Amino acid sequence: MALSTGSKKVKTAIFISGTGSNLKSLIKFSKHKKSPIIINMIISNNSKAKGLRYSKIYKIKKKVFDFKNALSEKKVINELKKNNIDLICLAGFMKILSKNFINNFKGKILNIHPSLLPKYKGLNTHERAIKNKDKYSGCTVHFVNSKLDSGKIINQKKVKISKFDNSKTLAKKILIEEHKLYPAAIMKILSL
Ligand code: GRF
Repeated sequence: MALSTGSKKVKTAIFISGTGSNLKSLIKFSKHKKSPIIINMIISNNSKAKGLRYSKIYKIKKKVFDFKNALSEKKVINELKKNNIDLICLAGFMKILSKNFINNFKGKILNIHPSLLPKYKGLNTHERAIKNKDKYSGCTVHFVNSKLDSGKIINQKKVKISKFDNSKTLAKKILIEEHKLYPAAIMKILSL
């Protein structure tokens, strides 16, 4: 596997677009002695992302890029390389990264997705699971490749859908599991 840890903590960047609750859980995880990662940067495509406030609270460098074209992505790549970032965790990041970007960090980009992949790639996962009367949904952490939500799965957690659930209540239940699943995925792929 491309990620090598040696005895040092892996320098990590978290990409967000919104609330950043997964970002917060990853920051907390990174502070544990046994955590294999250190979070050096928060990157967002959205200057209004609520999660950017964790930059100030936890004193982590933040940067906003629009990711609109190859030039903007090139700036992100340069920034990540300058900071020796060796792991990228997408956490509610709503932009699709180009093939070129992904090739620059082969095997080093993870994503969390709120469904039991390969079911429900893309958006509105909770609505789709409820509409299809599924008994379970859940969340998945996977490596990112050039196909949307299709990279190798690292781990998954099933969550029961009750007949009282709507997309909001289901999202809430799944998010609680996401906060445990992402650190567990990192522990699984990186051991010091
Ligand atoms: C999570 O459900 C994540 O799986 C999805 O977007 C949501 C982001 O939530 N991709 P947050 O910003 O981490 O609170």
